[in-house]
Amino acid sequence: MNNSSEKIALGCDHAAYQLKEQVKAHLKALGLELKDFGTFDESSVDYPDYAFFVGKAVVSGECSRGIVLCGTGIGISIAANKIPGIRAALCHDLFTAQACREHNNANVLALGARVLEPQLALEIVDVWLKTEFAGDRHQRRLDKITGIEDTCAVEHAQELANIVQEQKN
Ligand code: RB5
Repeated sequence: MNNSSEKIALGCDHAAYQLKEQVKAHLKALGLELKDFGTFDESSVDYPDYAFFVGKAVVSGECSRGIVLCGTGIGISIAANKIPGIRAALCHDLFTAQACREHNNANVLALGARVLEPQLALEIVDVWLKTEFAGDRHQRRLDKITGIEDTCAVEHAQELANIVQEQKN
């Protein structure tokens, strides 16, 4: 990992506020630059908002990678994966933290605060940060994921064009 080129986007809902703060302190101790998109206390919020903030920061290039957290990690990973270009991986162990980088080039890590002990969560973060994408045949598969995104975008645009045309008629 080249720390100087990394800037980590962080986002969570209320259920994961405490763990997000621990991850944030850990990243700072590692000397990593980060941007914290919140939430900033335990008042109830909606996890898709924070998935969107983090995902947009990553696909725009403002941040190199992102970490999102909610109670289970499920909702916020589902939401983050709706953003074209985001490959969010929900990890509960060190093996998947490594594999999601090597095989899937996961640019967002999702963690479940109600699932993970904090110490394991930080170890998952470490493995995910240091593991490089293996490329080769895995790149071909990621290209197919991008192909699905592109196909859906084209079909969506065609549907919108049809609706606009029908309204004109
Ligand atoms: C919030 O209660 C909870 O639903 C959320 O943190 C997350 O677990 C959703 O997937």
